[in-house]
Amino acid sequence: MTTRHALITGGAGFIGSHLVDELLKRGFEVSVLDCLLPQVHGDAEMAEDGWPVYLDPRARRIKGNILDDGVFEASLDGITHLVHLAASVGVGQSMTNIADYTRNNTMATAVMLDVLSRCSHRVERIAVASSMSVYGEGEYWSPAAKTSLAPPLRSNEQLRRRSWELEGEGSGEALEPVPTREEKPLHPASIYAINKRDQEEMVLTVGRALDIPTTALRLFNVYGSRQALSNPYTGVAAIFISRLLNGEPPLVFEDGEQQRDFVHVKDVADAFATVLESDKRVWGAFNVGSGRSVSVNRIARTLARLLRKNIAPRVLDQYRVGDIRHCFADVSRIEKTYAFRPRREFEDGMEELISWVATARKPIDRSSRSMAELSQGRMVV
Ligand code: UD1
Repeated sequence: MTTRHALITGGAGFIGSHLVDELLKRGFEVSVLDCLLPQVHGDAEMAEDGWPVYLDPRARRIKGNILDDGVFEASLDGITHLVHLAASVGVGQSMTNIADYTRNNTMATAVMLDVLSRCSHRVERIAVASSMSVYGEGEYWSPAAKTSLAPPLRSNEQLRRRSWELEGEGSGEALEPVPTREEKPLHPASIYAINKRDQEEMVLTVGRALDIPTTALRLFNVYGSRQALSNPYTGVAAIFISRLLNGEPPLVFEDGEQQRDFVHVKDVADAFATVLESDKRVWGAFNVGSGRSVSVNRIARTLARLLRKNIAPRVLDQYRVGDIRHCFADVSRIEKTYAFRPRREFEDGMEELISWVATARKPIDRSSRSMAELSQGRMVV
């Protein structure tokens, strides 16, 4: 078999480093292109060479920013499989750093695609990290109309009433959340989500034009070891752990009954590896979730229990601008196309996260600062 050599942009990060492990296990050569953003890596344990200690030493390391001239082109030497994970990922932060986010996410993708379409290379398969955020609200069922719906975001008027559940337009009936399918119309509700939708469409369009099979994976709420615990703009699990370890109650927006789909990072790495190894000539977007829904209150309770902290969450009864109420994945498309199925259960996955936390450096709780920034930018109401 000819050598398969994967380049992972953002490969030193949380998801990327797990994918490095998985691809090495499957016999790939692996290169990592990463600019080692301080907001992500600032508090992580770094080796003497300046890279995170958890990054497998067999991975070739290239420190650089895709936006800098020639960096991506030089990294492509010998590459057969490309995975684009590098991105700025804070949804709230994207609403106050709009130009930066659009540069790092949309523009960096454009630079990569320019290189792929103009230069000679051996890339035969591309995978890109998209996000459930492209959906906006998830999919709902209207019991009265007996049909599924893609409702818009809740209105300001409704949110001011502190009425959190989705209501049918005009009728006011309570809509029921159901698993979200890929064909649901996209209603991105933040700059980050718009960046991700653009990135998905750009990569799929150019991949098709170049006849390189290309897959966008719409990741749901990813959690697990190596999450950047001190980065207040990433996921709720990391934020809650950081609060609990610092003796503070998790701060819960709305009433805490909003539901998400928490997918373990090793399932996400498996999904990328499966797509890269497949010989299917496919161009499309696929959900990667656990297929199960969990409320934010349950996450707060589970984490407190696993960390042995007797701290109840503080329910704020406030709305974080850009938040959706419920979204969890229908995972049948990726199963049908690639025979991929997530394997990790929520409780087991959270235990893996917690046992890693015990070995990691104590996180600095920056959520008060990010909360102040969000309030200042009128992003919490
Ligand atoms: C968002 C993105 C998702 C991205 C993820 C991590 C959307 C729809 N989705 O998910 O693509 O992968 O961020 O960057 O934008 N919460 C609290 N207290 C906190 C923090 C969060 O109650 O301190 C609540 C939020 O209000 C939300 C839920 O927890 O209801 C999940 O929040 P978060 O982890 O930030 O992810 P999402 O917004 O679901």
